[in-house]
Amino acid sequence: MAAEAAFYPPNPAVTERAHVKSNEEYKEMYQRSIDDPDSFWSDIADGFYWKQRSTNKHSENLDVRNGRVEVEWMKGSSTNICYNVLDRHVKSGSGSKVAFFWEGNDPADSSKITYEELLKEVCKFSNVLKGKGVKRGDRVAIYLPMIVELVIAMLACARLGAVHSIVFSGFSSDSLAERILDSQAKILITSDGVYRGDKLIPLKDIADGAVEICQKANFELKHCVVVRHCIERMNKDRTNGVANGASSTDAIKWNQSLDLWWHDLMDGADEWCEPEWLDAEDPLFMLYTSGSTGRPKGVLHTCGGYMLWAATTFKYSFDYHEDDVYFCTADIGWITGHSYITYGPLANGATSVLFEGVPTFPDASRYWAIVDKYNVSKFYTAPTAVRALMTFGTEPVKKYKRTSLQVLGTVGEPINPEAWLFYYNVIGDGRCSIADTWWQTETGGHMITTLPGATPMKPGAAGLPFFGIKPVIVNDKNEELHGPCEGYLCIKQSWPGIMRTLFGNHERYEDVYFKPFPGYYYSGDGCRRDESGYYWLTGRSDDVLNVSGHRIGTAEIESALVEHDSVCEAAVVGMDHELKGQALFCFVTLAAGIDFTSELAGQLKQQVRRKVGPFASPDYIQEAPGLPKTRSGKIMRRILRKLAIGSDDHGDISTLADPAVVAQLSKGRSLAIRVAAS
Ligand code: WT7
Repeated sequence: MAAEAAFYPPNPAVTERAHVKSNEEYKEMYQRSIDDPDSFWSDIADGFYWKQRSTNKHSENLDVRNGRVEVEWMKGSSTNICYNVLDRHVKSGSGSKVAFFWEGNDPADSSKITYEELLKEVCKFSNVLKGKGVKRGDRVAIYLPMIVELVIAMLACARLGAVHSIVFSGFSSDSLAERILDSQAKILITSDGVYRGDKLIPLKDIADGAVEICQKANFELKHCVVVRHCIERMNKDRTNGVANGASSTDAIKWNQSLDLWWHDLMDGADEWCEPEWLDAEDPLFMLYTSGSTGRPKGVLHTCGGYMLWAATTFKYSFDYHEDDVYFCTADIGWITGHSYITYGPLANGATSVLFEGVPTFPDASRYWAIVDKYNVSKFYTAPTAVRALMTFGTEPVKKYKRTSLQVLGTVGEPINPEAWLFYYNVIGDGRCSIADTWWQTETGGHMITTLPGATPMKPGAAGLPFFGIKPVIVNDKNEELHGPCEGYLCIKQSWPGIMRTLFGNHERYEDVYFKPFPGYYYSGDGCRRDESGYYWLTGRSDDVLNVSGHRIGTAEIESALVEHDSVCEAAVVGMDHELKGQALFCFVTLAAGIDFTSELAGQLKQQVRRKVGPFASPDYIQEAPGLPKTRSGKIMRRILRKLAIGSDDHGDISTLADPAVVAQLSKGRSLAIRVAAS
């Protein structure tokens, strides 16, 4: 076994004023959270506003063998998360505190909004939605860039008890339509477009495409609300002949029977809207995420438990204090943005930076320019961003002071020690605590992390369980392993932030998360526990891919590929990639008489970008006359992963229906076409 990795002590300046100052203190709190979770969370709930508080203890059954899997926290208590993240702070006198510094793609574009102003805007938009017939329980699809209206729209839904379903603005028309159809959303909210770097993303145009697909499926959205965001520049670019990707002759098309301008609706809307008092177990939002098979899953979170979880993990993982300025670089379209841009920070009354742009525009020092501009003290990003910035060297980092930084968070994939050290030594100047937070869309918030004032860090290890979390590592036989070990990461008891179901499909919820290892919640991740009890994530143990921190289902890519006329069958695997973590390697079986050319490979790449979204772009495509399958027809991706990296060690191939395909694919590897942009 490898020698135990070196410990890095927490930043002393953080420890001095930390909520949790030592590992002993952490252990004490942790023990209490495990021994008596109801009283632990009830104390935390005291800090929030409840219209009515029940004395119900939480209830849970995570064991499929004992019937329906079900989790409830604080059922019978009523609250409203929007009230808790806005009104509560305004009422306690913090209304003039800045909630968000908005920083546009163009460094010259910025604005700010206080808690009081945000509350007013949210109330107005709640009234707009109400006026359009949106009621408690209705779904609202949101397809917006990183602008304040996105936060306003989601909080307005939360205020009314409508379920927001946010779709990341990098998804295609097809993906958006699929999510609208599955959630049966009443209303879609989008913007004219957004510039990221020099590139326009024509959101309205993409949304129009989705609306059309919905109409073909006989589903009518009631309205599409459009935020006027960058149409002036879109029009100007158009007049100047700058191609910007939109398909219509005007910068955007307008559908009279469906489309409504946001600003027209907001004009004159009433500035007060009474929140709906909802049960703690009423749905708050759904967010689609990919699994190893099938269509995306609508992970559903509820009001009370999620609120406690997002708020508490934010407070402790980043050791939040009132004078902090916090900057999370994620997009609200993913769970990180839901929990750690909107709900967690606002629940704590924090001031955050909301950033529309990309890390390399106008140059690779953009993040550090923002850090200095707003005196950011807590910063949260993904390993893929750290690795991308590493390629520019230290100069862009050193150009800025960054002396305000205290805690640096990371999320999305295991951080390789080299990137960790760059984060720690160069970006953090060796004096910041790093919080490597392991969690998932399904968990609602952080599950395993170090606490920045308390827990010594190890580069590459996520660390120790958060309060209330009982991780276990199990083997193939569903046996719990003890001490240092490696296996599948499962969780043993429920916690307030766990998703309650998959929208409209509780059976799939049980099948995917609770059946593989009966008695536990299964994360899908592999994990090692070391001598100090630290957890080291080793990547997915299912067929889910992680490209630049984005979770991608193999089935979605494969179904996009086989929709192309020339493709009969496809199998996609991940291969290690220096910057993206994983790159997509696609094997395609072509229809009879079709030649595998670079033109076809290019078309297939475009097909995936169009069907799923540009972030899921394939890197390599190889023709596969046959795929390695078991006799029952299951594709052996384990072998394909070896073939993709050109390895001759294919493992056991004796169970294949036709072992000869392996040699054939191995020979064909050199003819794989690289379709990734260089
Ligand atoms: C998967 C969840 C949670 C927000 C971002 C992604 C991987 C996430 C870490 C980490 C190692 C990590 C896991 C997990 N992952 N954070 N700190 N160390 N792996 O959310 O799309 O739900 O993906 O991301 O594989 O299962 P998601």
